[in-house]
Order: sequence, then structure tokens, then C-alpha cells
Amino acid sequence: MANSRFEYVRTFERENILLPQTHIIIRIDGRGFHKFSSAYEFQKPNDPNALKVMNLSAQALMKSIPEVMMAYGDSDEYSFLLRKNCDLFERREFKLITAFSSGFSAYYQYYWNIVFPNKPLSVERLPTFDARAVVYPSDSIVKDYFRWRQVDCHINNLYNTSFWNLVIKGHLSPQEAENKLMGTVSSDKNELLFKEFGINYNDEPEMYKKGTVFIRDVGDTLDLVPNSDVNLSKRQVERLRGKLRKVTINELHCDIIKEEFWNKRAWLLK
Ligand code: GTP
Ligand code: MG
Repeated sequence: MANSRFEYVRTFERENILLPQTHIIIRIDGRGFHKFSSAYEFQKPNDPNALKVMNLSAQALMKSIPEVMMAYGDSDEYSFLLRKNCDLFERREFKLITAFSSGFSAYYQYYWNIVFPNKPLSVERLPTFDARAVVYPSDSIVKDYFRWRQVDCHINNLYNTSFWNLVIKGHLSPQEAENKLMGTVSSDKNELLFKEFGINYNDEPEMYKKGTVFIRDVGDTLDLVPNSDVNLSKRQVERLRGKLRKVTINELHCDIIKEEFWNKRAWLLK
């Protein structure tokens, strides 16, 4: 950038550098998806094609940013876990969140057109996503973060499955369905689904019950991920990014609450 007498305006700019040596998680969330989903007539409670657009977008974003080790999502949200010591955008918060939200929004619109060729997006209602970045100081808190999101997915899905069955098959009004579910616990909803609609909640698709997990499956090549980036030169970082880019990304719909998931994939938090 050429020097000019106007250069001083840069002194007003502010950066927030995310704490080093902590795990960064960036969560994107669809803006106004309650209205968006009804405008584009999503299936209730889950639209498999809309979820496909979310999943394709998350996978594409993960492919393009090799620092992402894992992603977890359901409904209109996705959480991306970055490699612990990564120095992506020098850990500048605003660069990170704007890159993730704009990247995800762009992929979403691209894949929407492929998955829904007969539902063109209207300029009045385009899908966009906001993002936040949070740093977590320990492995156990990162695990609890993802557990929190999966429990949330489960609670919402059980509620939505009960609610929409009462409305669509049970012919209750939304208000009546809401009243009927008020104060119920999980076992009540399981029983209601079984007794009134012959649905065994356990048999519902795993993607709906557990959400979607993408992992960069480092597996046998564990030594690929260094313990620290502190002493890595720029060239070494680029080489590492190149290697990580080639690692297969696997899609799972499994339990991430039990310790077993994390024990099997120690590299995710390395
Ligand atoms: P903000 O995130 O605050 O902008 O609000 P929001 O309207 O996006 O709501 P929120 O993120 O809390 O929740 C997402 C909403 O998206 C759900 O409440 C549903 O209304 C809708 N949604 C997401 N996935 C599906 C789906 O597969 N089917 C249907 N029918 N609705 C969905
Ligand atoms: Mg939303």
C-alpha cells in the first residue's frame, strides 16, 4: 500500500488476537432460518436435502481450510474445531469469523443450486450465516463443548419430532401440540411417539438424532500433527497444511458424548 498523508487513519483499526495455545472453535449459524425454512418449504421436522446442503458446505469449507480438524453440525449450525496451535490469519478473530461466515454462505448458495435445481433462491431471501469464535483452554472443555451441541441436537430433535407428528398426523393445532408437550420429559415424548404414532424414536435416522460429524482422519499418520507450532517456520507450516489437505475427511453420525469417540481420535485435540 502506497504511503500517503491519509495513512494515519489505519491507527483507528483494531484487532483481537485470539489467545495462543488454546483451542479455537468457530460456530456458524443460519440467520433467520426459521423464516428461511418456511419460505423454501423445508420438510418438517427435518429436511434431508436441506441438511445435505449444510453438510456439503461444511465439508467443502473444511477441505479448503486444512487447519480445521473436526466439524459438528445439525439444523442450521456448524462448529469447526481448529488445530490447537494453528496460526491461521495470525489468530485474528475478525479475519477468522468473516472468512468462515462468508465462506460457508457462499458454499451454501452454490450447493443449494445443485441440490435444489427446482427451487431457485430469491434475492429477497438469501441464506446467510453469522459466526463467532471462542477459545477453550483445555481438552476436556472442548469435548464438553461438542457434547453440549450434540445434547442440544437430541433435545431439539425429540421435541420437533413429537411436535410435528402431533400437528401433521395428530391434526392438532401448533398451540395444542405445544400445550401437550409442555412439562414432558424425554421418556414421555418417546412413549407418546410410540403409543400415538407407532414410532420408535431409536429407529429414527442417526443423522437426525446425532447430527453430523466430519473428521480429518489423520489416524495412522499421527506424527503429522506437531505438538506445537511455536518453532515452525513459514515453510514448515505450508508443508504441514499441504499434508493435512490430503488427509481424508470422513462423515460420521455417531455418539460424541462418550469418551470412546475422543480416545480413538487423539489427534483431534493434539
Ligand atoms: P437466528 O439464528 O437467531 O437468526 O434465528 P433462526 O430463525 O435461524 O433460529 P435458530 O437458529 O434458533 O433455529 C434454526 C431454525 O431453522 C429452527 O428453529 C427451524 O425453524 C429451522 N430449521 C433448521 N433445519 C430445519 C429443517 O430441516 N426443517 C425445518 N422444517 N426447519 C428447519
Ligand atoms: Mg439460526
